[in-house]
Amino acid sequence: MQKLLFSDKEESLKVVNVASVPQYSPFRYPGGKTWFVPRLREWLRSQPKKPKLLIEPFAGGGIISLTAVFGNLTQESLMVELDEDIAAVWQTIVDGNAEWLISRILNFEMSKENAFNEITKKRKSIKEKAFQTIIKNRTFHGGILAAGSGFLKNGEAGKGVHSRWYPGTLAKRLRGIDLVRDRLHFKHGDAFEVLEQYKNDEDVVFFIDPPYTAGGKRAGNRLYTHFELDHEALFAACEKVTGDFIMTYDNAEEVRNLSRKHGLVAKPIPMKNTHHATMTELVIGRNLDWMSGINRVLELQAEYKIKKKSASSG
Ligand SMILES: C[S@@+](CC[C@H](N)C(=O)[O-])C[C@H]1O[C@@H](n2cnc3c(N)ncnc32)[C@H](O)[C@@H]1O
Repeated sequence: MQKLLFSDKEESLKVVNVASVPQYSPFRYPGGKTWFVPRLREWLRSQPKKPKLLIEPFAGGGIISLTAVFGNLTQESLMVELDEDIAAVWQTIVDGNAEWLISRILNFEMSKENAFNEITKKRKSIKEKAFQTIIKNRTFHGGILAAGSGFLKNGEAGKGVHSRWYPGTLAKRLRGIDLVRDRLHFKHGDAFEVLEQYKNDEDVVFFIDPPYTAGGKRAGNRLYTHFELDHEALFAACEKVTGDFIMTYDNAEEVRNLSRKHGLVAKPIPMKNTHHATMTELVIGRNLDWMSGINRVLELQAEYKIKKKSASSG
């Protein structure tokens, strides 16, 4: 008998307030996985023993690695990210230069002009690039760093570039991360290489959150500089790893087909976007028994609208 891979059975909906999830990341990140944090805890606690290493091959804002390390759900985490702007921030932190970054943030006088001057300077060192990334991430639409993004025009209550510039909060988060730096690792590189490198290590678990570009036009291709991905190859690489893994994906037909083809289980998690329309994302893995009995989560997910025209608008 064919295994039932997909369950669309309605379960009771439980609204989880995203604001109650502790925020450890210095990034505002498009496609950030804050909504998944409660499930992450359940998944990691369901492991036969505490994982030696959690690998986040598409780290972005790193919320999953940070939550796992802070919550002591893994001994260590390795974040991997291809984007050089994002990479500069994580590299600066793991290199022990968080205080340098904090000092630049606290001493920066935010204005559109200063932000523009800062981000257009030719930067040579990784830590200087990290500072530029923080400025962009905090002053651009939806935190989007990809080409075509631009400064917040109105932002919150017409505050423009100031709306998301919270130097004190950033300093606090960076100091927090600095405290767990010895358990946090970073690699500026390709997810596929790391999956290959650790595929035989049974003490390693993977949280895989690729850009959502499967099944044609999806948000991912305007949110990230590196959005192109061979989704079939990713599923094939996951199939080869010895350790446990979960993937999160948009609920697209192509993704459901790939899951079936690779003998994986996929469960939809409903969430609400900012317009209160319900949409679902998929959690995919070899075994999702740890999710049974868990009420579906109805989450508020930030929605990133990007205008087609380029730069400095809206
Ligand atoms: C959906 S986002 C991850 C968001 C992250 N889970 C969070 O909560 O912030 C996907 C990320 O993968 C990165 N990326 C794309 N292709 C990659 C590759 N081949 N290797 C490593 N990172 C890649 C993108 O730059 C982007 O930051």
